Amino acid sequence: MSQELQPMDPIYVTRTFLPPRAEYDAWLDKVYTSHVLTNNGPVHRELEETLRKRFDVPYLKLMTNGTLAIQLAIRALGVKGKIITTPFSYVATTSAILWEGCEPVFVDIDPQTCCIDPNLIEAAITPDTRAILATHVYGIPCDVEAIDAIAKKHGLKVIYDAAHAFDVTYKGKSILAWGDASTLSFHATKLFHTVEGGAVILHDEEADHRLRLLRSFGHIGDEHYCLGMNAKMSEVHAAMGMAVLPHVEECIRQRKELDASYRLVLKELPVRMLPNCPDTTHNYAYFPVFFSAGEVRRRVQEELEGIGIFSRRYFYPSLDQLPYVTSPPMAASEVAADTALSLPFYPGLPTHVPATIAQVIRGIIG
Ligand SMILES: Cc1ncc(COP(=O)(O)O)c(C=O)c1O
Repeated sequence: MSQELQPMDPIYVTRTFLPPRAEYDAWLDKVYTSHVLTNNGPVHRELEETLRKRFDVPYLKLMTNGTLAIQLAIRALGVKGKIITTPFSYVATTSAILWEGCEPVFVDIDPQTCCIDPNLIEAAITPDTRAILATHVYGIPCDVEAIDAIAKKHGLKVIYDAAHAFDVTYKGKSILAWGDASTLSFHATKLFHTVEGGAVILHDEEADHRLRLLRSFGHIGDEHYCLGMNAKMSEVHAAMGMAVLPHVEECIRQRKELDASYRLVLKELPVRMLPNCPDTTHNYAYFPVFFSAGEVRRRVQEELEGIGIFSRRYFYPSLDQLPYVTSPPMAASEVAADTALSLPFYPGLPTHVPATIAQVIRGIIG
């Protein structure tokens, strides 16, 4: 079946958006003019304020990356103890909990949305539980209302790993408006990026003040207040962010078109795609498909690789199966991790790719 396909250049699962060189250069010129390369410089301040306004949130701090963003959000909120979290996320969600000396307690996912199942959270709460850390998986909003109600009832903090949720809105507001904190990743593979980078969104002035100290060695001038670290974003990274930002809407528009092309060619095939969620503006950050069994996923992935199309198991493994955690099995998450494949998805993807992939899938399971 795949012999009929035309040979082609390798197609990877994503391709970083690079702004026109002249636009990045114009921001770098500002860095050269100010001669300030880091430590809360003018471009950093501009990006921070621009993003804060864009999401209409009270406090936003840029970070070195999305992993330290989660770690320092946990610390800024003073969370110490057990954290209820999702097993279906990138490893950084769990590793951040562990690096902060907290204990991840996994609660399984809703297989439809791939986000933590709020109906299972209360049974996992014990007197040692301090927080819920949930991921808006692939930019699909968690059931924020249910999580909010549970957290209020039990006095828990809520942190959302919103690494995938840039520009996602729910009921007309940024999804980042929910919880005590949300964290973003601006890694080069993300919809909006600063090469490496991230941010923490907070809603409380005191926590934001703590976060600023934590990000910058725990001191202001000669006055040392707390154990801090270096999690600052440089001017050069912030400059990339300022150059990428004006292009985000167009990237989302093109991604939406690509999403529609994939759905069209896959609609007759026995694969599950992400739901369109009510009251949500999606950002079309990823295009995962879920097969009926891990063996089918494996065959599709291998056959695609044979013709130079590289998909990715995202997320794998289910985090309850990491070698350095102890957890009861998380059935729904383990099935998702076994059967999910993220397909190549980025503006500029050669137009034949969705149909080619559909043809491969049809050859195996159609
Ligand atoms: C859900 C999720 N959380 C956290 C991270 C970590 O972000 P970063 O790579 O910026 O450290 C990523 C991506 O890399 C992610 O996908």
